[in-house]
Amino acid sequence: MVEGLGIFSSKNGFIKRTEPDQTRTTLATEIGPTIAWGRFSRSATSGTPHSVVLELGPGSGRLTRHLIGRCRELICADYSRMVCKWLPQYLGKKRHFKVHHISKPYFPMIPNESIDVVVANGVFEHIELEDLSFYLEDFYRILKPSGVVSFNYENIMTSAGLQWLRTFRGEPGDGCIFRFYHPDTLRWLSENIGFAVLHVTVDESRFAHIELQKPPSCS
Ligand SMILES: C[S@@+](CC[C@H](N)C(=O)[O-])C[C@H]1O[C@@H](n2cnc3c(N)ncnc32)[C@H](O)[C@@H]1O
Repeated sequence: MVEGLGIFSSKNGFIKRTEPDQTRTTLATEIGPTIAWGRFSRSATSGTPHSVVLELGPGSGRLTRHLIGRCRELICADYSRMVCKWLPQYLGKKRHFKVHHISKPYFPMIPNESIDVVVANGVFEHIELEDLSFYLEDFYRILKPSGVVSFNYENIMTSAGLQWLRTFRGEPGDGCIFRFYHPDTLRWLSENIGFAVLHVTVDESRFAHIELQKPPSCS
């Protein structure tokens, strides 16, 4: 009884969906420059219109505006006050939509086991390993059993990722706005928390993508 959303850009195709999953029906939904693949179970109770989705780091709403009509409730959380103020104005008054400003890598306003799907696109490329680990732990807390997390990140293990690092690291000592991960790091962190890794999608680009699932019942 699972649903998840794998996300990739149709422009550069940086995430290629692999491994067809026989247990779910895949609905490809064109949503402008970004495509969300709604991957739904056949269960009538867990189709997208019934789910509560958390989007971390909605930014300018590139993905948000396409998710908003496709779930029961959409909750967004972002470090940027500007984003949190601007997004509701941009999207207009929507009944089942909330935006929270957060300043730490967790969601104190979200109850345990209340979210079906967590998505983040272009966010973890800006997040340090320790904050990423806190986010993963809190995703686990807020997800319902069988809930799914889906996000992309910069893959240091490709030539494109390495080139991106060299381009944006600046001069020695400058620091860089981008953070880079090895896919195994994400797998290791996630499995240690208790997630099952549904998919790790890697290609030649600088992006990789991971989809995680909380076990059906957790003690
Ligand atoms: C590159 S934008 C991506 C926006 C959008 N998801 C998209 O696909 O276009 C990154 C977003 O993540 C937010 N962000 C950056 N660091 C964050 C953090 N540590 N926690 C939460 N949001 C963060 C930024 O404020 C921004 O809205």
